[in-house]
Amino acid sequence: MNIAIDGPAGAGKSTIAKLVAKELGFLYVDTGAMYRSIALYFIENNVSLDDEDAIDNACDNINIEIKYEDGVQQVYLNGKNVSLEIRQEQVGNMASKVAAKKAVRDKLLSLQRDIAADNNVIMDGRDIGTFVLPNAEIKIYLTASVKTRAKRRYDELVSKGESPDINKIEADIEQRDYQDMNREIAPLKQADDAIFLDTSDMNIEQVVAYICNLTKNKSGD
Ligand code: DC
Repeated sequence: MNIAIDGPAGAGKSTIAKLVAKELGFLYVDTGAMYRSIALYFIENNVSLDDEDAIDNACDNINIEIKYEDGVQQVYLNGKNVSLEIRQEQVGNMASKVAAKKAVRDKLLSLQRDIAADNNVIMDGRDIGTFVLPNAEIKIYLTASVKTRAKRRYDELVSKGESPDINKIEADIEQRDYQDMNREIAPLKQADDAIFLDTSDMNIEQVVAYICNLTKNKSGD
C-alpha cells in the first residue's frame, strides 16, 4: 500500500508522515532529502545551474543511497551519510532550484518508484501523487498558510537556540512555493484524486489520526 503526501515547504509533511509511518508500520520515504543531497553535491562542487553539460556530468557522478537504520531513513551521498548536513536552509533553497532540472528528476524517479514497489510506504514530496506514484491508494495534499508555515519554522529554529528573522523565513517560503509550483517538469500541484488538508487550524495529532483512519478504512475495503 502506498500513501502519497504532497505539499509546499513547511506544511508539516515530514513530521506527519513520520508519525503515520510509525503508527501503521510503513516505511517513511522523504524524497526532499534526495533532492537536498543532490543540491549539497552541486554546492560542494560548484556545479553551475546554467550549464546543462555540467549538470548531466554531475548526475552521472552522484550516487544516492537510502538506508533504514533503526527505522529511520538515512541518505548517503557517494558513500557519505549526509542526513544532517542537508537540513541547512541554504541546501533547501538550492534543492528547490536543482529540482527543476530534468536530469536530476530522472535520476531520482526510479529510486523512488523501486522503494514504493517493494514496501508499504508513506512518501512525501511535491510530485508523488501526480507523477511518482499515480496509483497510490491514498493521496493527501497537505498545506497551511504562508504565515502559519513561517511561524512554525521560526519556532523550530528558536527552540534550537537560533535567532531567525521571521520576515526572511516568510520571503524564503514564498520564493520556494513559486519555484516549486511554476517549474515546467512535475510542478507542485494537487492531484485530482488527492484530499486537500489545510492544517493551519489543526494540530499534529488530528492530522495523523485523520490519515491513519483513512488508510485503515481503505485497507479494510
Ligand atoms: O521537502 P523539502 O523541503 O525537503 O524539499 C526540498 C526541495 O526539493 C523542494 O523545495 C522541492 C524539491 N522537491 C521536489 O521537487 N520534488 C519532490 N518530490 C521533493 C522535493
